[in-house]
Amino acid sequence: MACLDFFRVVCLSACFILRDASEILVLEPSRLVVEYGAKASANCSTNVNHNGMGWEASQGPVDMVENAELLTWTVPELTHWDIKPICYINLEQGPQTEKNLSVTVYKLPDTLSISFKNCPGPVTEEETCRLQCDIQNVAPVRYLQVMWYKQQFRMKTTHFTETTIIPVNKSINLMIQPSRDDDGAKYWCEARLELGPDGPQPPPTKKSDPLSITVHYKPVFSNDTEIIEAGDGEIILNCTARANPPSEYTWDAARLEKAVKLSASSLSVSRSGNYTCTASNRYGTAKKLFIIKSKYRDNIVLWVILTIGLLIAVLLIAGYIIHKRYTPNRRSANQSKSPSPAFQREEGEELVSTVK
Ligand SMILES: *[C@@H]1O[C@H](CO)[C@@H](O)[C@H](O)[C@H]1NC(C)=O
Ligand SMILES: *[C@@H]1O[C@H](CO)[C@@H](O)[C@H](O)[C@H]1NC(C)=O
Ligand SMILES: *[C@@H]1O[C@H](CO)[C@@H](O)[C@H](O)[C@H]1NC(C)=O
Ligand SMILES: *[C@@H]1O[C@H](CO)[C@@H](O)[C@H](O)[C@H]1NC(C)=O
Ligand SMILES: *[C@@H]1O[C@H](CO)[C@@H](O)[C@H](O)[C@H]1NC(C)=O
Ligand SMILES: *[C@@H]1O[C@H](CO)[C@@H](O)[C@H](O)[C@H]1NC(C)=O
Repeated sequence: MACLDFFRVVCLSACFILRDASEILVLEPSRLVVEYGAKASANCSTNVNHNGMGWEASQGPVDMVENAELLTWTVPELTHWDIKPICYINLEQGPQTEKNLSVTVYKLPDTLSISFKNCPGPVTEEETCRLQCDIQNVAPVRYLQVMWYKQQFRMKTTHFTETTIIPVNKSINLMIQPSRDDDGAKYWCEARLELGPDGPQPPPTKKSDPLSITVHYKPVFSNDTEIIEAGDGEIILNCTARANPPSEYTWDAARLEKAVKLSASSLSVSRSGNYTCTASNRYGTAKKLFIIKSKYRDNIVLWVILTIGLLIAVLLIAGYIIHKRYTPNRRSANQSKSPSPAFQREEGEELVSTVK
């Protein structure tokens, strides 16, 4: 008899264990994601007859009550990292059944700070720098993602696998090799808690202050030869080169007097020719050639040649005309005078020959 009873109890408990508690107790919500210090609340409901149900929890336990279909667990300020609320029910026929409420307590970091671990001053190209992001008091670390950004662009993301549920401190490093294009760029790190679909949307995030980087580099021209077709008047040659610290300039041209040492980044010229500008800082030197062609001056030369040519032609023609005129004038003058004996003789001979 006792043996039979024992088996009945075993069967009953086994049956109830097999018959999942989820069919007897329904938790709403089934998973709770709460910010540390915030209000937490969940409902436990049942539709079976029982001798009492209640909530067990380190914060906000609810004493067993009879004849309840719904029992709410509420904590105005949740401060227990390891809270594990359990809703239990004493069935009329059978053992006590319980259901655990899964609670994730999260906390954004108190601070995120970013700093250089080397590279105290301005960096030069090809130098490698280590940036560090220090994160204080964040939980739970396994939902944490730390992102590095440079000017809106995400550079790196770090995940964590530890299962610690209490707040921890974390330090993340990023190695960078800045280029001239990174001069003045802002870096920052960002912490994000990816708490899943039950967590707040969008996921809570916190950013560090941005950190600017100064890169030193030698001058560089985007184009080291510039051909300018200049018209009338002065033109300005702009030799501004990208460099940090800024370049110092010198100009060189056959047409510039040696004595004139110009140090400005731009030069005003009014004559065609080649002008070379040298930009330099303590990291290097770059040269730029300006070739100034003057259409206007070429035309002048053309006009001078044409005018000279025309003048010569006019002179030649005039000379020819004068020469031609001079010859008949002398002849008619001779005719008006008394003919020389030789001239008469010639005429006479001609006459004679005609007669023949
Ligand atoms: C719990 O139940 C009460 C009463 O039905 C309801 O007002 C409340 O919104 C419920 N809470 C949750 C978290 O579902
Ligand atoms: C519920 O929580 C208790 C105490 O933390 C634990 O012993 C038990 O295994 C848990 N049950 C389930 C189904 O997770
Ligand atoms: C995190 O860092 C702060 C400040 O350095 C310190 O007070 C705190 O104890 C640290 N926490 C842990 C878990 O190491
Ligand atoms: C450089 O300047 C020259 C003359 O102005 C031009 O013909 C050439 O296309 C330029 N090159 C580049 C890469 O801009
Ligand atoms: C020369 O060019 C730079 C940009 O390349 C510009 O910032 C600067 O104002 C220019 N200087 C002059 C005198 O035009
Ligand atoms: C100017 O420079 C160009 C290119 O180097 C060269 O071909 C040309 O002969 C130079 N002109 C003068 C007047 O030096």
